[in-house]
Amino acid sequence: MDKIKENRRFMMSEFNQDDTQSDQEKGLPQPPLQKPVPEGALIIDLPKRQEMEFAKTDLYECLKGRRSKRKYKDEAISLKELSFLLWATQGMDKKSEDNYRTLRPVPSAGARHPFETYLWVFKVEGLKKGVYRYLALSHQLMLVKEVDNLEEKANDAVQGQVFVGKSAVTFLWSCIPYRGEWRYLNEAHKVMLLDAGHICQNLYLACEAVGSGTCAIAAYDQKLCDELNGADGIDEFTVYLAPVGKY
Ligand SMILES: Cc1cc2nc3c(=O)[nH]c(=O)nc-3n(C[C@H](O)[C@H](O)[C@H](O)COP(=O)(O)O)c2cc1C
Repeated sequence: MDKIKENRRFMMSEFNQDDTQSDQEKGLPQPPLQKPVPEGALIIDLPKRQEMEFAKTDLYECLKGRRSKRKYKDEAISLKELSFLLWATQGMDKKSEDNYRTLRPVPSAGARHPFETYLWVFKVEGLKKGVYRYLALSHQLMLVKEVDNLEEKANDAVQGQVFVGKSAVTFLWSCIPYRGEWRYLNEAHKVMLLDAGHICQNLYLACEAVGSGTCAIAAYDQKLCDELNGADGIDEFTVYLAPVGKY
């Protein structure tokens, strides 16, 4: 019970009740807006999202159709569709000149945007199967690695929720907590998870618009997901994921 009560505190607000200085207040440099790209990495340019043709353009229809979908056709999605889904969830529309903040289709407390997007690509036109990372600042993809038996490994990493391995692509959001902590210290963690909810809701609605479906997933194996993506599990770790496919 003590643990439960302790966890409840995490959901409450304690903003401005502590005079500990944040690293931002101490004048320490802001962490990078995006995880660095390793030298020699394979980079893929994504189509412009303006080229999208939508299955549904009416917000009301998208909201009405939004349900968690766990059965997908054995069909690829196009790179254009993927490009749109990436923009809708984490795409960058504006960056301030001093690199202090980015503005995106999702809100984020203090515009910290503490996430990286990984993709487990199974069936996307023009992409090899493998693990990719979205480079939001340049709207590109980076190949993290090709993986043998990715479907099997993905299913293990989500504790046997086999519809993940049958998706066209699975989105995973990892958190780099220091991006939020730099500004908000102990208040960062609650708001970062609130931010993650917005991202996934945008994925649900954007999927409806392109004739695909998704399902939020919070039941996953932390270590296996982090290992597949190459996150260290301390300064970067998976917080949420969502498979996408035609239905
Ligand atoms: C934070 C969160 C975590 C979830 N985790 C899972 C999950 O691990 N596996 C799953 O099959 N569905 C998961 N879901 C989907 C819910 O079961 C689903 O939203 C709920 O049953 C309501 O159905 P609807 O989304 O179709 O309205 C999750 C949803 C949310 C919002």
